Amino acid sequence: MRLFIAIELPDDVKGVLSRLRADITGARWVPVSQLHLTLSFLGDVDDASVKLLTSGLKQIRAPGFDLVFAGVGCFPNQRNPRVLWVGIRPEPFLSDLAAQVRSVVFACNIATEDRPFSPHITLARIRQPIRQPISPFIDLYQKLELPAFPVHEFILFTSRLTPQGAIHTPLGSFPLICKTIQ
Ligand code: 2AM
Repeated sequence: MRLFIAIELPDDVKGVLSRLRADITGARWVPVSQLHLTLSFLGDVDDASVKLLTSGLKQIRAPGFDLVFAGVGCFPNQRNPRVLWVGIRPEPFLSDLAAQVRSVVFACNIATEDRPFSPHITLARIRQPIRQPISPFIDLYQKLELPAFPVHEFILFTSRLTPQGAIHTPLGSFPLICKTIQ
């Protein structure tokens, strides 16, 4: 199974992000229903490791937190944009969650691409070098302010590749510790 672990976005947040779509030649915009924040991409995992992984993820104790968006950007750089994304304001509870998730994945001996965690939500992917400058898009949304939303859980997803694109299906959800109301 091809797997990744991510934070799902509420439908209203997805709706707001879908309005950032711009007329950029060659950009393939992520279907609105699939917008997510990746914590760890695992790739192909065998069934035995999936069981181990699921029980490891269940052991994670991490507090819930609010996610706040912070502008837009691109990877790897503005001269050669390949991924357009919405940024996330630094949030220690999010970084801590990603670190815990990645150490569970590591403990399960699942070989992952070990990119440093750089929280973002991919809006679009661009396959070919583009001629039009990307800076108008970046500048337009540099000061983007969107409502924060509370994160209560993270999800283990399967990603099935099809000629029409990837199909993401939740395989398990893992709750974060809720704040107690006093
Ligand atoms: P992204 O949010 O940074 O784009 C599901 O496929 C998610 O896993 C994608 O949204 C992508 O995260 C990430 N992903 C896909 N292929 C990957 C790869 N080869 N290496 C690292 N992350 C990958």
